[in-house]
Amino acid sequence: CGIVGYIGRRDVAPLLLEGLQRLEYRGYDSAGVVISGKSGDLRTVKAKGRVRELESRIPKRFAGTTGIAHTRWATHGAPSDENAHPHLDTAGTVAVVHNGIIDNASELRAKLTADGVVFASETDTEVLAHLIGRSDAETLEKRVSEALRAVEGTYGIAVMHKEFPDRIVVARNGSPVVLGIGEKEMFVASDVAALVTHTRQVVTLGDGEMATLKADDFRTYTTEGSLTTATPTTVEWEAESYDMGGHDTYMHKEIVEQVEAVDRVLRGRIDDRFATVHLGGLNLDPGEARRVRRIKILGCGTSYHAGQIGAQLIEELARIPADAEPASEFRYRNPVVDPDTLYVAVSQSGETYDVLAAVQELKRKGARVLGIVNVVGSAIAREADGGTYVHAGPEVCVVSTKCFTNTVVAFALLALHLGRIRDLSVADGKRIIEGLRRLPGQIDEILKTEPEIKQLAKQYADARSMLFIGRVRGYPVAREASLKLKEVSYIHAEAYPASELKHGPLALIEPAMPTVAIVPDDDLLEKNRAALEEIKARSGRILAVAHQPQEKADHTIVVPKNEDELDPILMGIPLQLFAYHTALALGRDIDKPRNLAKSVTVE
Ligand code: G6P
Repeated sequence: CGIVGYIGRRDVAPLLLEGLQRLEYRGYDSAGVVISGKSGDLRTVKAKGRVRELESRIPKRFAGTTGIAHTRWATHGAPSDENAHPHLDTAGTVAVVHNGIIDNASELRAKLTADGVVFASETDTEVLAHLIGRSDAETLEKRVSEALRAVEGTYGIAVMHKEFPDRIVVARNGSPVVLGIGEKEMFVASDVAALVTHTRQVVTLGDGEMATLKADDFRTYTTEGSLTTATPTTVEWEAESYDMGGHDTYMHKEIVEQVEAVDRVLRGRIDDRFATVHLGGLNLDPGEARRVRRIKILGCGTSYHAGQIGAQLIEELARIPADAEPASEFRYRNPVVDPDTLYVAVSQSGETYDVLAAVQELKRKGARVLGIVNVVGSAIAREADGGTYVHAGPEVCVVSTKCFTNTVVAFALLALHLGRIRDLSVADGKRIIEGLRRLPGQIDEILKTEPEIKQLAKQYADARSMLFIGRVRGYPVAREASLKLKEVSYIHAEAYPASELKHGPLALIEPAMPTVAIVPDDDLLEKNRAALEEIKARSGRILAVAHQPQEKADHTIVVPKNEDELDPILMGIPLQLFAYHTALALGRDIDKPRNLAKSVTVE
């Protein structure tokens, strides 16, 4: 979901709509806006559907200079006009927009209903509007914090009140809230993407923090009311980097940007003299690094897959046992938290709730946690003891591409760094560094094969289901490629280790079920070829991604060879293009696949 708010002198509605558009990628099943009109009344417009639907419903006369708005991704209550935010109390004096989930909403709703409150929606958020509306505390700040004390759950909220027209009060617990500091105007949003065209001076609220925004002033404080210090920082990304830059979709733009993105994550970090890399923010001295006996990587979705490749890189280069697990699973199985294990949280947004909650749980139990994160200053980056930014630049398309690649490269850097203070040889260090340096040029070569991949995508777009196979280094590549295809094209896809074919999936093979096979030129080449034979013998269609044409495959996408350990970074890239062009051929909504959101800041 997305929140945006403004208080200042400008006409607020167009500003809020523009902000919502920039946030649509965070959730988009309904949207709404509230402004305080000339008379001081709160005026709302809401609409099921995309922001353009909301825009078409805004009346001609809708003037005001203070307002808040929201784009929703349904949790409680189906997408509808009524369930869209903002939510107001019965008298229409308080308006609330909210990201997150109020866990005890049904309890509170029952209590309020017993007291005679009539609810206008099925949302958990409306509870907050009534609670604030019923408070008679002196200030709006006190009314909001009183209401927040009654709720359990996660929230990023923005509140307007008819009796306090000079301010917007915001609060955060678990869901991001960023203030944008302007000249005689203030902004608030759940994501800097909505702010950067207006100001690059931002303050990210911490959990348990609140803020009051007035046109020419802001202050931050705890829910108990004690002031906190908030020094604005400058957003490093340019406003233009959020634009589509001549491409038809963000996904395409972000795939193509990988050449420069990978160059950026490497820049300034390589130390040729000692055949190693420097990662300034790790906050892990060599002594500590040598004592690490295991590495556990946590992430969700594509970041989890990047972590799987990361675990392999760490095992190969640093010889430390490592594995990756979905953060959501980890946090609910009461994991054994071990002092000799180094934990690594991976997240593009730095806000994914399950990852954040896993980090918080680990810290409570005394673990050491590093973050591999894209968004600077995000919650996970702040909570971690140290880590590294992946410098992919803003990623807007819901499905992650360039950030995946950069995260894997960041893992290669971490693995090399750890390897070189443990037992990786100078020669191997040099070999990996040279391999890393070749990556941007090789990605460029792969991108040049786009016309060919586009043709292939058209040929496979009629499949109802596809199998993706790989072995050891190729397996996480297959998993990520299968996720990419399914989320953007809606073709069912499943990834399997090639070695497991005989144990089940071979039963599915027939001409209507194509297989995409990852076949690197490494010591498992012959084994992989045998798997292709097995599929061919059962009349399966095969698309191979390999370093040389594969005889048994119907088609091979040939990618440039790097060092064996780094090959997985390159082999997934043509399959990003494959997923993209399949989705395009099927007319899908590429940047905003149905039912998905870019950052899942709820459980
Ligand atoms: C959502 C997105 C995915 C993303 C995942 C993790 O599911 O749709 O593209 O990989 O969240 O997000 P993160 O920001 O933590 O990397």
